[in-house]
Amino acid sequence: MRLAFHYAPAANWLSDPNGLVYQDGVWHLCYQHNPHGDLWGHMAWGHATSRDLIAWTEQPPVLLEDERHLIFSGSAVVDTLDSAGFGAGALVAIYTGADRDPQGLQVQCLAFSTNQGANWTKYDGNPVLDLNRLDFRDPNVIWHDATKRWIMTVVLATENRALFFASPDLKRWAQIDALSEVSVPGDLWECPMLIALPVEGTDQQRWVFKVDVMRDGPGSGAIGIIGDFDGHRFSPDRGFDGTVRWHILDHGRDFYAAIGWHLPRDAYGRPAWIGWMGNHHYQADLPSRGWRGAMSVPRRLSLIRTDGGYRIRQMIEPALAARFGPGIATNTIMGGARIDITQPSNAELMMIVISDKAGRSLAITFSRGRVIIERSAGFSDLFDAPVEVSMPYDDLILWFDRTSIELQDTEGLQWVSLQHCLADGEYAVRASAALALRIAPYIA
Ligand code: FRU
Repeated sequence: MRLAFHYAPAANWLSDPNGLVYQDGVWHLCYQHNPHGDLWGHMAWGHATSRDLIAWTEQPPVLLEDERHLIFSGSAVVDTLDSAGFGAGALVAIYTGADRDPQGLQVQCLAFSTNQGANWTKYDGNPVLDLNRLDFRDPNVIWHDATKRWIMTVVLATENRALFFASPDLKRWAQIDALSEVSVPGDLWECPMLIALPVEGTDQQRWVFKVDVMRDGPGSGAIGIIGDFDGHRFSPDRGFDGTVRWHILDHGRDFYAAIGWHLPRDAYGRPAWIGWMGNHHYQADLPSRGWRGAMSVPRRLSLIRTDGGYRIRQMIEPALAARFGPGIATNTIMGGARIDITQPSNAELMMIVISDKAGRSLAITFSRGRVIIERSAGFSDLFDAPVEVSMPYDDLILWFDRTSIELQDTEGLQWVSLQHCLADGEYAVRASAALALRIAPYIA
């Protein structure tokens, strides 16, 4: 059974979103995909399209492994001005070609489509960027209008270092800047992105550098650093002591490798982004449903200015949010649902338990300013440990689907994304009397 309101492929492995691009009313969602099985391997770009970021149509994979390379993560752009010479309006994918030999190199390559993403051709001049490195990957490319050139953000994964390159034509790249020595815990940087975000209530934009820390990173690994980018240098905001300030973008374990559709923006100037609801540390051990791995809900990104500095806000795509409801008096969830949680009284300890018919459960405890989420068995020991977050829990929203939950504060400033292993079917919801729940089913 597929998910109620999250994208998952019909079969086989899915991980990082790749090549997010929009053209002629169609949102393209490519992703790390194994076309031959439900474990990581034979990496290719799977492909799905949507007209509303809600209903996705699976398409044939667009980029397949070849004699030399697996197709690792990357991005895509619309080359409106034909800078690369593949044709005006061509879609151009910029991806990492990862040598089949794990001791081999990782290089940056191009592929293009001149028929709205239906067919893709690998560029015969590949690679376009080769530093003779093993761990050089995940290019994310944007058009920088003021300097009229392309900017690529890419990582040297094992050095916890991001590099920035510029190009007039997507083919010739020159390094312009680097970011490292940031006090983020953990190791192995992956899937970076530099994105301009609107500051709410102003006509300003500021920049966010996002990266995922794969080993021992904070939260799910996804962190954001707010700063400015002038087309040449990224200058991160620093605290009084000069250290770079970073923000945890998700406190759960299953929100990784997220990237954005840099265009189009909504009426508030906000881009949409999406993450892989998965985790390399245990994904292979979770039960397969023929497919393994799903995307998060698409979320709109913006910045808000508070007394304590800027913060990053993520709000679920409004058109998707509008598909839930109205709230009904029930203790049963049938498929997908939105659960609004409010706390009318000040009890010391409160709890919500969602359970399946097989007796497995998901428990959310509210105690002393903290929210603690426990998933029943199904994960490897280490990751069965409860997730504990400090959240203002008088007003929370829980997005529930057949294999995952996304818990957010109503402000969208904190998120906790987690997969669960409840059996398909009906779910019973029980809550402490001190909590008020409103359950709004997903209406397809
Ligand atoms: C992140 C990642 C990327 C890499 C891809 C390979 O999940 O490890 O760094 O490009 O997955 O599938």
